[in-house]
Amino acid sequence: MTDRRPFVGGNWKMNTNRTTGSDLARGVTDGLIGVDGVETAVFPPFPYLLTVRAILRDRGSSVRLGAQDNAFQNDGAFTGEVSLAMLKDCGTQVVLCGHSERRHVLGEKDETVNRKLRAVLEAGLEGVLCVGETLDERTAGHQDIVTARQVRTGLADIPASVADRLIIAYEPVWAIGTGKTATPQDAQEAHSQIRQLLARLFGPDSANRVRIIYGGSLKPDIAAAIFAQPDVDGGLVGGASLNAADFVAICKAAAASARGK
Ligand code: PGA
Repeated sequence: MTDRRPFVGGNWKMNTNRTTGSDLARGVTDGLIGVDGVETAVFPPFPYLLTVRAILRDRGSSVRLGAQDNAFQNDGAFTGEVSLAMLKDCGTQVVLCGHSERRHVLGEKDETVNRKLRAVLEAGLEGVLCVGETLDERTAGHQDIVTARQVRTGLADIPASVADRLIIAYEPVWAIGTGKTATPQDAQEAHSQIRQLLARLFGPDSANRVRIIYGGSLKPDIAAAIFAQPDVDGGLVGGASLNAADFVAICKAAAASARGK
């Protein structure tokens, strides 16, 4: 039996506009009415945070508002950056840190990811630390080392007391947006290794409270098998989160999986 409540996030990335994002937010909130046992969030692009927030609020929805990135500085001359104070002002409750596209496309380093995650947690928000190996790293058999390094460095100077507000997203880079998913067994193995590492860093009780979610081409038809694994506590969904019915189906699969654990 686990007390961990599954979490499913919809990472819209640099997609949607004011109209399609609003339609999507309405579709998601309506589809999730009456669905319990899963914490859900949407991560729209920055310019639409307030629009989506208004929709979530008007509908009294429990869907949380997420941001895809944050600055670790409080304010000042950082052109193009968005601070946590601004994100909180817009109603953001949860933030993604170190998504693979930020690491591999935009060159974000482990140390930067750590500073961002620390800032998110110090601001009292929920933080999602994204980790995962590339295809080359996997082919070379280095997936465990890479993931462990990203978790260790990402969590440097972060206390165990934040376990309830910390989520780790294991997202193998070769599975993101490619239509390839990890097998349920591969996902379980990676998640279990991450939890063992968390137990060394935080102690077993806190490690058992951290949600570890899977990301990488999650679709409704495979979600149940992945979520059934004992150390998989939900998912981070990219492409399929742009379709309200698919995202809702994945959230329902997570809620159902929790009932069986
Ligand atoms: P995907 O993206 O579901 O499109 O593979 C997942 C992610 O990047 O979080």
